[in-house]
Amino acid sequence: MNNLLDFSDKTVVVIGGTSGINRGIAELFARKGARVAVASRSQKKVDDTVESLRSCGAEAMGFCADVREPAALAAGLVTVHTAFGLFDVVVSGAAGNFPALLTQMSANAFRSVIDIDLIGTFNVMQAVYPYLLKPGASVVNISAPQATIPMAAQSHVCAAKAGVEMLTRCLALEWGTEGVRVNAIVPGPIDGTEGMQRLASGDAMREATRDSVPLRRLGTPQDVGNACLFLTSELGSYVNGAILPVDGGWLQSGAGDLGRMLSKLVRRGTEPVLK
Ligand code: HXC
Ligand code: NAP
Repeated sequence: MNNLLDFSDKTVVVIGGTSGINRGIAELFARKGARVAVASRSQKKVDDTVESLRSCGAEAMGFCADVREPAALAAGLVTVHTAFGLFDVVVSGAAGNFPALLTQMSANAFRSVIDIDLIGTFNVMQAVYPYLLKPGASVVNISAPQATIPMAAQSHVCAAKAGVEMLTRCLALEWGTEGVRVNAIVPGPIDGTEGMQRLASGDAMREATRDSVPLRRLGTPQDVGNACLFLTSELGSYVNGAILPVDGGWLQSGAGDLGRMLSKLVRRGTEPVLK
């Protein structure tokens, strides 16, 4: 079993891998022996993450790119391919979020989340395709409960992540015939992350969210990383097109009351203005 989770001599690319859940995933792959490359918009976050990956004993590199800019993605990925060879695993998890009712958003605000989450995933998929090990590679897109649970103040994220999940399932068909598996993970509320900070930051919201999880705890980046290891290893070799919740059963509870709580917050206008 342990050997099946050995990623020595494998190349793993994590787009949006420089903080929170995705960084946790990158670090787990590093500890399992993979060569790991990360990308995001901030050079500082890229540098910090590469240093941390190296301190896990991994060969690591990174590049700056906004997933809304295909040329920047292409330029970065060619350097990864040159240094690390074909990609065994790609994790695509860049995302944007802020709580706002539809009437509180400009068209550009709505579009910015669609552009990062959905079109960004499309851009990443197109950019990595030439470098995927065929057959044998595996892709994991990071979705969110909003893809299936409608939430007030989250219409942009709900629409975007629903698209990410359907894109994942379509690619499982298109790339499955080439031996490339494409799956998605749906994290639940993950403690200490930017997403939780933006949506459920106060003690009351955090506790209410925790209590709405059937397992009665918030998740960790390691919980999500473990599922990623499974999906991309030999253990997951017949799993393709799966949308896997890693959420303590939160989706079964309708993701608690998060949408209602957010709606109350933004209607009162007390939400932190986070950009
Ligand atoms: C209304 C807002 C807003 C808010 C931004 N905008 N915040 N509108 N309410 N609170 C508007 C801006 O005014 C602007 O519209 C448009 O959105 C784009 O904003 P910019 O700041 O110019 O965009 P950009 O620099 O590209 O930043 C994108 C971003 C930002 C999404 C707005 O927050 C970001 O980069 N986020 C990345 C990190 C992140 O969100 N991580 C959490 C992921 S968690 P105008 O019309 O003025 O131009 C997640 C799921 C969590 O996805 C699930 C938990 C259970
Ligand atoms: P996070 O820390 O903000 O992580 C987002 C990552 O993506 C960062 O590395 C960020 O780095 C990068 N990024 C953001 N916009 C980008 C862009 N336009 N181009 C390239 N990179 C970009 O958030 P998180 O809370 O850990 O969430 C990570 C993923 O899990 C997201 O897909 C989110 O939807 C999903 N998720 C989170 C939760 C949760 O509880 N937190 C729950 C369900 C799903 P830069 O700022 O340097 O670009």
